[in-house]
Amino acid sequence: GAPRRVPAVVVGSGYGSAVTALRLGEAGVETLVLEMGQLWNQPGPDGKVFSGMLNPDRRSTWFKDRTEAPLASFLWLDLANRDIPRYAGVLDRVHFGDMSVYLGRGVGGGSLVNGAMAVVPKRDYFEEILPNVDADAMYGTYFPRARAMLGVNEVDQAWFEECDSYQYARLSRRHAQRAGLGTAFVPSTYDFAYMQQEEAGTAPRSALGSEVIYGNNHGKRSLDKSYLAAAVGTGKVTIAPLHEVREVERRADGTFVLTVRRIDPEGAELEVFAVETPRLFLGAGSVGTTQLLVRARETGTLPGLGEAVGQGWGTNGNVMLGRANHLWDTTGSLQAGMPALGIDNWADPVHPVFAEIAPVPAGIETWASLYLAITRNPERGHFTYDAATDRAVLNWTAAQGQPSIDAAKALFDRVNDANGTIYRHDLFGDTRAFENRFTYHPLGGCVLGAATDDHGRVKGVPGLYVTDGSLIPGSTGVNPFVTITALAERNVEDVLARDFG
Ligand code: FDA
Repeated sequence: GAPRRVPAVVVGSGYGSAVTALRLGEAGVETLVLEMGQLWNQPGPDGKVFSGMLNPDRRSTWFKDRTEAPLASFLWLDLANRDIPRYAGVLDRVHFGDMSVYLGRGVGGGSLVNGAMAVVPKRDYFEEILPNVDADAMYGTYFPRARAMLGVNEVDQAWFEECDSYQYARLSRRHAQRAGLGTAFVPSTYDFAYMQQEEAGTAPRSALGSEVIYGNNHGKRSLDKSYLAAAVGTGKVTIAPLHEVREVERRADGTFVLTVRRIDPEGAELEVFAVETPRLFLGAGSVGTTQLLVRARETGTLPGLGEAVGQGWGTNGNVMLGRANHLWDTTGSLQAGMPALGIDNWADPVHPVFAEIAPVPAGIETWASLYLAITRNPERGHFTYDAATDRAVLNWTAAQGQPSIDAAKALFDRVNDANGTIYRHDLFGDTRAFENRFTYHPLGGCVLGAATDDHGRVKGVPGLYVTDGSLIPGSTGVNPFVTITALAERNVEDVLARDFG
C-alpha cells in the first residue's frame, strides 16, 4: 500500500504533476503521487493496452454505461458510441449543465488521450494573459526545457506532402489558401518517424489505426514514458494509481491530511485512508484541483483560502465544426489521428482563431473536413459549492460560448465562400454546425497571481501549491499542454529554491 506520511504529496499525474514529481525527486524529496486513474501498461485480452475509436470497449471510458464521443453522429446516426460496462477507463467527460469537459484518467493524465499537438503560445498573447511572468525566462529557458523533456518532434515536410495519412490536411490547407488564409505546421509528442513506419506497413498502426482519444498503443510519447518515467527513476517518487483524493484538510500545525480512496478497476472500494504531508502539490487538472479547493473552502477544511479560488475558468475558446467537401475533393480513408497542421489566423484583429485541422478517423471516406478552433473568447466561468451533492460545480452558460462560435464562423464562412462549400450539420447529434458544449482545454479556476502568488503558492495556505492548468486564466490561444508544462517547470524551480531549505 501507499505510505501514510510523506515529505511531499502530488495529486494527479498530468503535465503539472509530472514536472513537479520529477523535480522534487531530483532534489531528493521523497514524493507520493496519488492518481485516481489506472496505470496503463497491461494488455487486455486482445493483446492491446487501449481500445480503438471504431470499436471502443470498457477501457475507453471512465465509469459510464455508454461511450460519449465528441463526434456524436454521422449522417445523424449514432455510429460512434457503444454500450459498455462501467470501468476505470481512460477518457472521462464531466458534465456541468451547458458545459462538459473531456479529461484523461490514468497515470499521465491528459497525455494519454490528447492529440499530442505541442504548441508554444504566441509571445505577445502569453505576455497579455500572464503579465507577471518573465517572458524572457519562459521563452529562453522553460518552453525549450518543456519541449525537450516532452520529446516534441516535427513532421518531415517532404513526407507530409506525399503521404496518404495527411491528404485530409493538405486538402484543408488548399481550401484555406483559396480564402487567403495561412497554415502552420504543428509540432507533436507523437513520434512522426514511427508514423512513417505505420504508413509504410512496417510497424503496427496506432495514429493511423484510428487510435486517439481512447489512448494510443504505439507512437505516443505520453508522460508515463517521459517525465513520469524519469521521476520514478530518481528512486524518490512513488506513483499510486487508482487512488483518488477525496478531501484535503489542514491541521493547526500545518500538516495536510488527505482522505484517499483506493478502488479496483471495476470501481469497488478497497480502502479509505489518510495520508499526511507538510507539502501538498495539486495537479489534478483545472477541474479537479479547483473542485478540491472550492469544496475545501466551503466546508471549512482549508481555512485561509480566498475568493479568487474557483474564478477565471475558460474553455480556451474551443469550438468544433465540420465542412462538407465536394465529391471530387476526397480527404482519404487513411487519416493520421494526430494533427500536424493548423489554420493560423490569430493575427485577425476582430476574431483571432487558431484552428487545428482535425482528422475524422472513421476508416472510410467521409467528405468531411473537421476542425477544432481555438478562439479568444473573453467569457469566464466560475465554480460554486453545491451542498446538496457535496460537490463543487462549474457555472457556464451556453450564451458564454457564443463568442467562440462567432469567431469560428467568421473564419470558416470565408473558407466556404472561397470554395463553394457548406458546413456539416450531421456530426454533433442534432443539426448544429458548431459544437461548443464541450471543451478539451479546460483552463483556470486557481489563476496564477490571483488565487496563488506568481509561482503557484496558494494564497493564505502555506505549504499548498497549484501546478496544473488551473493556473492559466482560461485561454492560451493554442493547445495548452506545453504552456502548462513550462509554467510548472518555472514554478517548481522557485519553490524548490525558496521553500525547501
Ligand atoms: P491533467 O488533466 O492532464 O491531469 C490531471 C490528473 O489528475 C488526471 O490524471 C486525473 O485523473 C487526476 N485527478 C483528478 N482529480 C484527482 C483526484 N481527486 N485524486 C487523484 N487524482 C486526480 N492539449 C494540447 O496541448 N494538445 C493537444 O493536442 C490536446 N488534445 C486534447 C485532446 C483531448 C481528447 C483532451 C481531453 C485534451 C487535449 N488537450 C490537448 C488538453 C491537454 O491534455 C490538457 O490541457 C492537459 O492534460 C492538462 O494538464 P494538467 O496537468 O492540467 O492536468
